[in-house]
Amino acid sequence: MQGFWELLYTPLVIAEKHQYPMKNPIEQLEAKRQEAMLGGGQKRIDAQHAKGKLSARERIHFLLDEGSFEEIGMLVTHRAQDFDMQKQVFLGDGVVTGYGTVNGRLVYVFSQDFTVFGGSLSETHAEKIVKIMDLALKNGAPLIGLNDSGGARIQEGVVSLGGYADIFVRNVKASGVIPQLSAIMGPCAGGAVYSPAITDFILMVEQSSYMFVTGPNVVKTVTHEEVTSEELGGAHTHASKSGVTHFACANEIECINHLKQLLSYMPQNCEEDAPVYAYEAGGNELRPDLANIIPANPQQPYDMREVIEGTVDEGSFLEVHKEFAESIIVGFARIGGRSIGLIANQPAHLAGVLDINSSRKGARFVRFCDAFNIPLLVLVDVPGFLPGTDQEWHGIITNGAKLLYAFSEATVPKVTVITRKAYGGAYDVMSSKHIGADMNYAWPAAEIAVMGAKGAAEIIFKSEIAAAENPEAKLQEKVDDYTEKFANPYRAAARGFIDEVIRPEETRHKLIRAFKMLENKVETMPRKKHGNIPL
Ligand code: HXC
Repeated sequence: MQGFWELLYTPLVIAEKHQYPMKNPIEQLEAKRQEAMLGGGQKRIDAQHAKGKLSARERIHFLLDEGSFEEIGMLVTHRAQDFDMQKQVFLGDGVVTGYGTVNGRLVYVFSQDFTVFGGSLSETHAEKIVKIMDLALKNGAPLIGLNDSGGARIQEGVVSLGGYADIFVRNVKASGVIPQLSAIMGPCAGGAVYSPAITDFILMVEQSSYMFVTGPNVVKTVTHEEVTSEELGGAHTHASKSGVTHFACANEIECINHLKQLLSYMPQNCEEDAPVYAYEAGGNELRPDLANIIPANPQQPYDMREVIEGTVDEGSFLEVHKEFAESIIVGFARIGGRSIGLIANQPAHLAGVLDINSSRKGARFVRFCDAFNIPLLVLVDVPGFLPGTDQEWHGIITNGAKLLYAFSEATVPKVTVITRKAYGGAYDVMSSKHIGADMNYAWPAAEIAVMGAKGAAEIIFKSEIAAAENPEAKLQEKVDDYTEKFANPYRAAARGFIDEVIRPEETRHKLIRAFKMLENKVETMPRKKHGNIPL
């Protein structure tokens, strides 16, 4: 394992823990600083490395621009007296907090130090995090939490629980005001999971992090299930099954790089716009490859990622929640240098159907983008909502309504492109003109109808087909008839529900112009305390 770390980076030089009292005040300060740098000591740092984990300070080192970190509260110590705790005092008390820059932009950061009481949260550890959160909120800059903690400091009892609550309530106050990102780089259990859960994005590291409300031992006692920590709450579990985490990263460096990339699409706070990247305007924006993606047979799948890659600025797409609810794709990208949030049905997975999880996933992402002034691009190829008892009994009505609600309340620029199917209620929901999209495009192969032609013909011409000499031929005749009348974009275009039917290869060009045209959009909702999204 040592070799792995040496290959990956040059280890930070960490001073030896100071052993002797100093008289000179400057020497005394330096000795204290050096002691704080050691956290729980070199042995525990080595143990951390042996587990394939970075130390709290190393994580900050890789996250922030070189030399930009300013630490706050390095000399804080706990106040506990029980269990001989006064004999075990570590400067900083298990969390490194401060501010610095990522690609030149201010961020506030806390990084829990597992080498001090397992990174557990004491009263003073919580106070340090709270101080950073308050500064982040007052100064309007993102908050990044690097979590690696055994949970509440067991020796402190309720003051530790109170410390968590102080953090939770600030997470909520900051929600929608500044971006909050949580990287889980070790254990995260019990009520401690709820701070990350309130933040905007969670990233986990495979094999070395986990999140659960109750661990495998309690699970075994209560439900008699035998499960490992990794199965119960590891990165892959939460990325694919629960959707709790947005990214499952192969290692900590990948996790930190994802944090940086995520930040690049976001403004500093809800009053600002995301940074605009250099973009050469006026080039040839036609993308001929887009014309070859939709299969001739409307029942055949295709990968919507190809449409996305062919539309957005090259290499700019960062998919979020990739392994979860795969019938919808969400992520950030840039078009003409400007950040956008992308929500796209994925015909390659369950035909792009909307179900409970894909609706939840889409809705949460839309709300993040709307809160932080990130325009929305919606790519539609949706056959409808998923039928069945499982979906109905688990609340597809309430959950589908979340996506409808989120698109309807979003006031950022919204541009929709229907690439193929837009059927039934899902047509309305997927950012249709009717619920407030600013520009609605359709490709010529689009089918905008109550349902697919075959299903429609079977219902409305049921008796005619049954009575026909050749029912199959009759059905086909009716399907063709319905297709010609309704399974196209032209009825919607005639009504103005589609602003323009465009050739696929023109899509990027049209979108660059549309988003530019919409960049000063102002739309407000009626004054209210807050809406009541169907949670
Ligand atoms: C105080 C703790 C601690 C804790 C770990 N340590 N967790 N100290 N409070 N919560 C200390 C250990 O004593 C040890 O100290 C060092 O951290 C490393 O712990 P190990 O057990 O040696 O490490 P490891 O084997 O990697 O196991 C890590 C662990 C385990 C899985 C996190 O330590 C553990 O299960 N801890 C308890 C977790 C827990 O039940 N927390 C409370 C959850 S309830 P030394 O001196 O040996 O280095 C909760 C409520 C929050 O958090 C509610 C919010 C509303």
